[in-house]
Amino acid sequence: MIVTLDGPAGAGKSTIARTLADRLGFAFLDTGAMYRAVTLAAVRNQGPWDDPTGLAELAQGCQIEMDESVVRLNGEDVSKLIRTSEVTSNIHYLADNPAVRERLVELQRAFAAGKDIVSEGRDQGTVAFPHAECKIFLTASPEERAKRRVLELQARGEQISVEEVLEQQNERDHRDSSRDVGRLEPAFDAIDFCTDGMSPEEVVERLVAIVSERSLRANG
Ligand code: C5P
Repeated sequence: MIVTLDGPAGAGKSTIARTLADRLGFAFLDTGAMYRAVTLAAVRNQGPWDDPTGLAELAQGCQIEMDESVVRLNGEDVSKLIRTSEVTSNIHYLADNPAVRERLVELQRAFAAGKDIVSEGRDQGTVAFPHAECKIFLTASPEERAKRRVLELQARGEQISVEEVLEQQNERDHRDSSRDVGRLEPAFDAIDFCTDGMSPEEVVERLVAIVSERSLRANG
């Protein structure tokens, strides 16, 4: 069974998708980490930022391996290195590139083949797995997402205001929602789920119930 979990940055998707996969005993795929890994390769290669074909070739040559908690780029554990702000601010060069997206979607499908999986991203229900049995589109209001992100950064010792986070978040949302391919949007058959005012535990409980109900329907 394939469960897709899409939605904007900061809706709590990663933690929730991971916990949901654990609870269901499913594999977990963090597709944002794949975009981050090819971006890290491009940062190290200094682009070529103004050459989409060159970037696509670079991505094509990247060997990406994913497991539950480790991301490997050409055999190197880059799980931490892909989370820097330099990577985040350059992702759009790779994520807006149709040839790069095509390659990563191929890898996502190969990863999911024959598995029960929770796959998390922006286009999992629309592009990567249009036939997924259960599609969730997870949202939260921009203010709530920004507040959560500030708390997360404070816990890591970084000081940043809600206003600053909100500005970066709006920019990222706009880019993610307006790209030509693989844009952030709910699949027509996705369940819209707003997490405002809910704890991560409550969200996971509710999602476990939704997936179980879908699974019964798919098998019945
Ligand atoms: O989920 P995360 O914030 O790590 O994703 C980083 C970026 O990768 C997103 O802002 C988005 O631009 C891109 N992405 C994407 N398609 C996916 C997953 C992530 O374009 N399926």
